[in-house]
Amino acid sequence: MALRIKSYEQYQIDYQKSIENPTQFWEGIANTFTWKKKWENTLDWEFTTPDVKWFEGGSLNITENMLDRHLKKNGDKVAFHWEPNDPCAPNKSITYNELYTEVCKMANALKSLGVEKGDRICIYMPMTLEAVVSIIACARIGAVHSIVFAGFSSNALSDRINDAKAKIVITSDGLNRGAKQVELKGMVDTALETCKSIEHVIVFNCIDSGSNMQEGRDLNYHALIADMPEHCEATEMQSEDLLFILYTSGSTGKPKGVVHTCGGYMVYTSYSFENVFQHEGSDVFWCTADIGWITGHSYIVYGPLLSGATSILFEGVPTYPDCGRFWAICEKYKVNQFYTAPTAIRSLMGEGLDVVNKYDLSNLKVIGSVGEPINEEAWQWYFDNIGKGNCPVVDTWWQTETGGIMLSGLGDLSPMKPTHAGYPLPGIQPVLLDGDGNIIEENEQEGYLCIRFPWPSMIRTTYGDHDRCKNVYFSNYKGYYFTGDGAKRDVDGMYRIIGRVDDVINVSGHRFGTAEIEDAINTNEHAIESAVVGYPHDIKGQGIYAYVVVNAANETDPEEMRKSLIESVSQGIGKIAKPDKIQIVTGLPKTRSGKIMRRILRKIAEGEKTNFGDTSTLLDPEVVELIVKESF
Ligand code: WTA
Repeated sequence: MALRIKSYEQYQIDYQKSIENPTQFWEGIANTFTWKKKWENTLDWEFTTPDVKWFEGGSLNITENMLDRHLKKNGDKVAFHWEPNDPCAPNKSITYNELYTEVCKMANALKSLGVEKGDRICIYMPMTLEAVVSIIACARIGAVHSIVFAGFSSNALSDRINDAKAKIVITSDGLNRGAKQVELKGMVDTALETCKSIEHVIVFNCIDSGSNMQEGRDLNYHALIADMPEHCEATEMQSEDLLFILYTSGSTGKPKGVVHTCGGYMVYTSYSFENVFQHEGSDVFWCTADIGWITGHSYIVYGPLLSGATSILFEGVPTYPDCGRFWAICEKYKVNQFYTAPTAIRSLMGEGLDVVNKYDLSNLKVIGSVGEPINEEAWQWYFDNIGKGNCPVVDTWWQTETGGIMLSGLGDLSPMKPTHAGYPLPGIQPVLLDGDGNIIEENEQEGYLCIRFPWPSMIRTTYGDHDRCKNVYFSNYKGYYFTGDGAKRDVDGMYRIIGRVDDVINVSGHRFGTAEIEDAINTNEHAIESAVVGYPHDIKGQGIYAYVVVNAANETDPEEMRKSLIESVSQGIGKIAKPDKIQIVTGLPKTRSGKIMRRILRKIAEGEKTNFGDTSTLLDPEVVELIVKESF
């Protein structure tokens, strides 16, 4: 593929070209793919409504670019090495030829169930090859996948199914997670009690739990595809047809369905994959994310397969059977590019170097970070001990909404600086704005990170509610896409991400809206009112601190009360969102007009005891004193 930038000078030249003549630049990249029909209009856009269209008039099927076009030359190349949770269980490798066959069989199976182009399919699966096959099978026939991370609760699952009006759920009986097995099918059954749109549930047998199958509705994955034909015509998709929906949290309301479309997402994920990781033909790439998050979508499934890469798909967790598992896998498969989250690095750092130095990591060429700011200590540890001082750390900043990596070094080409994501990729035009929406030209000043020009894999809409997309991303600063992040640019023009400036908290690289967690807490029979804020956490980046006003506080044991509140969050969202600290309070600090003063609560959660800035609008200052007195 001719997409790779090979020097820093070339990056600078390409960047310049991509700004001066964006359409010509992206045409050059898009031309390296297989199109069923070439596009007529490269870009049409405005950021008010917003309305962004890339490669209009063109048609394609992304899976032909992920599979078919590699088969002739590279059919026997391994697409995925699947590494099971249990290191003693057999691993599996699947070639491009085999993946093609499996995808076609599954695509035919979906068709046999009446799935048509545009229908939504929910995928609630562990990290298995069957999950990857299901994703690509949807794309093969133009069905829109909506993957729900398998750690979400049945309530969260049913919300997402209902919002997308999905027709089918693809799931498994359960999943392996370290020493534990987790039941999934029962969660699906509970979720479906409130979902009318689902016609069938396809169940992959992962843990042999013999889960209950509902006659007529539930179908066994392998039985279903067993006799299906091994070829399936790829459905012709317009560039702007929906490829997938992925739900993500924001400041307000329930998670929203971020929509990505076929043409632009294809072009950008492949381009960014090859350049950021400087991926070459025979390299082995490993992204440790879960397919339920955007990182898994773009850099386990789409990006690597579009580029014909060999990747690792890991079912388990970094700490099982011991804290050397990541490094054991790197050695086993001679991994060349390794991509993980700062939270994993921070937790493994604490385990000492013996579990690292046991393994041969000499094949590593590039090591990456994603999902949250990486602190300097973790960056240095990663660079010194995993990269052995020889591998560039690519600190990749991006979002579910951006579809692909936006700010990052490109392998070993770019200069790097700890805690700085670095420079924009070609085609990306970031700006920092002040509170009034003026562009900050000076360096070293913090501002709101916005993007002023479209890029191919940007969010097109929020599913079923275009106004929400407009209000959340395009209204704060007219004419810009607003990221929700604060950032600084240094004298060298490198960007440093400070963190979210809205009510989104980032826990171990996972996004949650504080309102979403409060809603879950408030479903508890004892909860009267709650306020949730983030606070600095050594391993998770941010921890969740909940202040809750409860009834019957005197009659109930505080530990029992906390447990019960945590259970409400586990049920409402999932265990991944459970608060680290819950403080039972008698009242929340409010302004005279009744607004909760979160700023004060954030400070208290950070350990501040006296200095709360301007508190003149506070209705009852005593409330603050009381909270401080009993804070953790
Ligand atoms: C944060 C994950 C600092 C940021 C791909 C963003 C980061 C949010 C970085 C998106 C990074 C992601 N440095 N912060 N390298 N990467 N973030 O949608 O706050 O799950 O807005 O996408 O994660 O999270 P999301």
